[in-house]
This record gives sequence, C-alpha cells and structure tokens, in this order.
Amino acid sequence: MSNGRATPILAFDVYGTLIDPFQMENHLRAYFGERAKEATDLWRSKQIEYSFRRALMKKYKNFDMCTAEALRFVFRQFGISLDEDARRSLLEKYLQLPAYPDVPGALGQLEALGVQLVACSNGTESSLRKLFETAGILSRFAGIVSVDPLRTFKPDPAVYEHLASQLRAEKEDVWLISSNPFDVIGAKACGLRTAWV
Ligand code: LAC
Repeated sequence: MSNGRATPILAFDVYGTLIDPFQMENHLRAYFGERAKEATDLWRSKQIEYSFRRALMKKYKNFDMCTAEALRFVFRQFGISLDEDARRSLLEKYLQLPAYPDVPGALGQLEALGVQLVACSNGTESSLRKLFETAGILSRFAGIVSVDPLRTFKPDPAVYEHLASQLRAEKEDVWLISSNPFDVIGAKACGLRTAWV
C-alpha cells in the first residue's frame, strides 16, 4: 500500500497526446488531394483498430506494423495504388512527426517542478526515441515504457500493470495522461490515476 506521500509520476501517452499523427495529412495530400484529411483520419482509426484486434486475437505484430498495414488499407479503400517507394517514404515521415506545439513548453514546466515524466505507448521504443529526438523532447523523459516486450496493446490491463511495475510505483501514484479515451478508461479501470487531455 502507498503511504500517500509518494511523488506522483506522470506517464504520457504518445501518439495523439504528445506527437501529432494528424500532421500526416500534409504528406497524404499529394495522393489524396482534398480527401487527405479523410484519409489521415481513416489511417489513424485503422491503426488503432488493428492494435485492438491483434491484442484480442493474441496475434501481435508491433505498432509500426499496424501503422503500415493500416496505410495499405487506406490506399486500397480509396482505390489509389501505393508503390513501395511511396510506402517507405510515408512510413519514414511517420517517424518524424512533430510534437503538438504546446508540448515542449509544458514538459519543460513540469520538469522544472520536479515531476518525474515518462512515456507509455503502443509504439516501439526505437520509434518513440526517434520521434522524441526529432521533436527535441527526449531528454525530458526519465523513461520510455513501450508495450512491445509484452506483445499486446492498450487497453490491455497488462500494459498499465507493466507501467507501474517498471516504475516500481503503486498504481495510485501513477497518472496516465492521454488524449485517447480508450487509454484513459483502460488505465483508470486498472487502478491508475488519469487525466484526459
Ligand atoms: C499510443 C497510442 C494510443 O501512443 O497512440 O499508445
């Protein structure tokens, strides 16, 4: 049991919370024209759907694979062909997505307050590191907790249990901060504290 005096740890979700996957619209415009936003939204929702399905079926492939398979789906759905070079280039761009504009400043303020910051994501650790390096926020994090070693995805409770155990913290001392409702609900159902942003 916690003694109630532990310093809370803030665990940030990544895609859609710190890093903006919807900026891919700029790169999809060359293929989808005025339907680029629709294609970007479908890409993101299929990526998440594939992660749910793979976790439920226990047929894990990492999140980069879910992203790649969802991209293929979107092109097929719109009846647009996707050659190998374009596919590779779009997936490389996915590793260079920017942070939301208020993220670097907010993380800096939290760090200055002495709050311990970690990232907790469906993403692979190598992809998360690349994203954070590009966005200039890698040094803000005391740790990166990826689902990858568990071979499952959020909101499997195993993810939130793993997060607390990696932090050697009581679940009630860990705040999961996410824009993704399923992530907030999943973490809360598992006993973590949560903030929906
Ligand atoms: C993540 C997903 C939810 O970063 O986008 O874990």
